[in-house]
Amino acid sequence: MKNVLVTGGAGYIGSHACKALRAAGFVPVTFDNLVTGWQDAVKFGPFVKGDLLDRAAIDAAFAEYAPVAVMHFAALSQVGESMQRPGRYWQNNVIGSLNLIEAAAAAGCRDFVFSSTCATYGDQDNVVLDENSEQHPINAYGASKRAIEDILRDFEAAYGLNHVIFRYFNVAGADPEAEVGEFHQPETHLIPLMLDAIDGKREALTIFGTDYDTPDGTCIRDYVHVCDLVDAHVLGLKWLQDGKGSRVFNLGTGSGFSVREVIDQSADVTKRPVPITEGPRRAGDCTKLVSGSTRAERELGWRPARSTLGEMITDAWRWHQTGHYNI
Ligand code: UFG
Repeated sequence: MKNVLVTGGAGYIGSHACKALRAAGFVPVTFDNLVTGWQDAVKFGPFVKGDLLDRAAIDAAFAEYAPVAVMHFAALSQVGESMQRPGRYWQNNVIGSLNLIEAAAAAGCRDFVFSSTCATYGDQDNVVLDENSEQHPINAYGASKRAIEDILRDFEAAYGLNHVIFRYFNVAGADPEAEVGEFHQPETHLIPLMLDAIDGKREALTIFGTDYDTPDGTCIRDYVHVCDLVDAHVLGLKWLQDGKGSRVFNLGTGSGFSVREVIDQSADVTKRPVPITEGPRRAGDCTKLVSGSTRAERELGWRPARSTLGEMITDAWRWHQTGHYNI
């Protein structure tokens, strides 16, 4: 079986990707520093504890496992924090990724799948975002991811390192078997925070801003199920292995939901009220981010199968109630 180096394999999306890779007949080799990931989430292949700022550790992983490809998830990913501590994002995300990309090129590993973000587009109200939309990030997180995209393009030109870049919209849900799920410490994401509020683990969910230029005044996001998202990554890997060359794909469903709509749906799924308070806007938040792309469906044959809001919240709620990692 072929090895795939999965950076961030102990994190939320990376751990689901490892499960999908295993199911597709690959061996996912997790490379993770466990700063935001969980060793308990590494269930589907070998684990290397290492940091992307340590080039020697990356080289050693390439030497030991000879991966046929890299899936690069490891990153700091909190929009709010990136506005407070931008240096941490440039150091960890950009320098760490540069080390990884250089190591892949040096090892002759030519296929690279990269986890980018719709945050690279920035705030473009009333624009349908497709892969050719201009990228004007409004936070350091998005800027760091755009920089890594640029590095990948340069390394393709210089060394033939082929890449598939996925620009995600908002990832939600969990493995329906609850083997892995979303767990951040501290948690900043809407749905897990809301589920915590619903079952009393925190007092209330604060809605960040009710004066946006949207029908109900709250931000609109395009939510995609983590299992659908990682299925696209496996298709992207096969795309590269088939020699189809570098490509960028948006991963969203094209449907936007406001914060209030997510709250209402969560109350429906859990049959419990959602305690809320209304607060000011959070720095770095865009008004509306919705994918207008069908490229992944057309070219990769990607079909989101679980990405209704109801299914995402149902799976997140199941994980919330039954799944856990030892911390
Ligand atoms: N929100 C609240 N209250 C909270 C948390 C979030 O109202 O306690 C709101 C946010 O303001 C936003 C929406 O819920 O409007 C979603 O917020 P998340 O923090 O769940 O997600 P983000 O949209 O901020 O960020 C996510 C990923 C990023 C990615 C970004 C692109 O975490 O990696 O989507 O939009 F870049």
